[in-house]
Amino acid sequence: MRIESLPARVDAPVTVRGWTMTTRSSGKIAFLTLRDGTGYLQAVLSKRDVPEPAWEAFGRVTQETSVAVTGVVRAEVRAPGGVELHATDLKILGPSPDFPITPKEHGTAFLFEHRHLWLRSRRQVAIARVRHEVSQAIRDFFYERNFTLVDTPILTGSIGEAAGHLFATQYFDLGTAYLAQTGQLYVEAAAAALGKVYCFGPTFRAEKSKTRRHLTEFWMVEPEVAWNDSDANMRLQEEFVAAIVARCLERRKAELAELERDTAPLERVTPPFPRISYSDAVAKLKTLGSKMEWGQDLGGEDETLLATPYDRPVLVFNYPKQVQAFYMKENPEDPRTVLNNDMLAPEGYGEIIGGSQREDDYDRLLARIRAEGLPEDAYSWYLDLRKYGTFVHAGFGLGVERTVSWICGIPHVREAIAFPRTLYKLWP
Ligand code: 4AD
Ligand code: MG
Repeated sequence: MRIESLPARVDAPVTVRGWTMTTRSSGKIAFLTLRDGTGYLQAVLSKRDVPEPAWEAFGRVTQETSVAVTGVVRAEVRAPGGVELHATDLKILGPSPDFPITPKEHGTAFLFEHRHLWLRSRRQVAIARVRHEVSQAIRDFFYERNFTLVDTPILTGSIGEAAGHLFATQYFDLGTAYLAQTGQLYVEAAAAALGKVYCFGPTFRAEKSKTRRHLTEFWMVEPEVAWNDSDANMRLQEEFVAAIVARCLERRKAELAELERDTAPLERVTPPFPRISYSDAVAKLKTLGSKMEWGQDLGGEDETLLATPYDRPVLVFNYPKQVQAFYMKENPEDPRTVLNNDMLAPEGYGEIIGGSQREDDYDRLLARIRAEGLPEDAYSWYLDLRKYGTFVHAGFGLGVERTVSWICGIPHVREAIAFPRTLYKLWP
């Protein structure tokens, strides 16, 4: 039996297999707390009621020993799930001598070296469950709105974002292949076929950033919608992020409690989100003491400074063209800027979304590709989308790890993915 099924089996005899978290004994009575991935359970052994080998086995149980415990399920209001197990037998399945992660404090570096074992801790299990809920909320949100999921390639021949941050590999006789920084260019093609689409998968950035917001491999969900302009794009983002947060609040209460997350700020994440233009944001930042000038990108500290006064995510729109990617549509009302936006999460979590209306004019897009010195050949297929029935369209990318860190209230994105990849981490 799995631990999750025990509350429905009070007074029934069962056998449960799992891993031992803690043991304690008072001579004639012994307690084990078990974990099997579906829940936590206390088993009680009385020396009188179990065979001698079972009592002797208990003496050899250490942290993370895998065991099979047979017994009767008893109602116990103080226990998690409202039940405990009164054991009639105990067998050791796999001993665990000197488990490296003990209940004492360990440094972060040590824990990440033992990531494969650290994943078993209650906090890490809770984070994994919140991440799982976020992923499922993403899929359900788009499924319910009739978007089609399109899986885009990871090996690509064209650069999606910034040329400086690419992982490259030799691809047979065809030259260099890059690990995708984004699926966007491909979902743009798919949007002309299917109208409302999204991709959801791993993306790669060879950024030498050592911040708590950067990974070299992270998961991104990228919707792309035919006929949406920048304003409609921002409305979709609000609805989307509010739905993800609400879903976690509704279904992951226990996990958020395990993480000691104050959920009050999350309860406030309802549309509409405040909006501020980049130009107004710069003026505001200056009054708050920032040294940034019009034309520069917002740094992490600027983002935190700007977002702090708001009680929910804030949308910053229409950035200067020179700090943004080549594919963004020029703002007809101020050609120094583009029709894009970032979404900054509250509580200092920074940018969780980057999005834009796309340049749909063939000549202007070609001029941008040339101005950025991008290889024109590699983009001929992308330019075709502007040649054959060009269309107003917009989309965005939401970073899963940043969103999960924010919802969980954990300081660093590397705990928001099972096996993080950073500048310093390729193992385990
Ligand atoms: O702002 P970015 O670079 O946007 C794009 O890639 C667009 N092509 C998306 C689109 O319009 N379809 O990245 C989008 C989001 C960021 O807001 C951030 O949440 C996350 O991806 N992100 C990272 N997360 C972790 N580590 C990194 N190095 C990240 N870089 C971006
Ligand atoms: Mg961005």
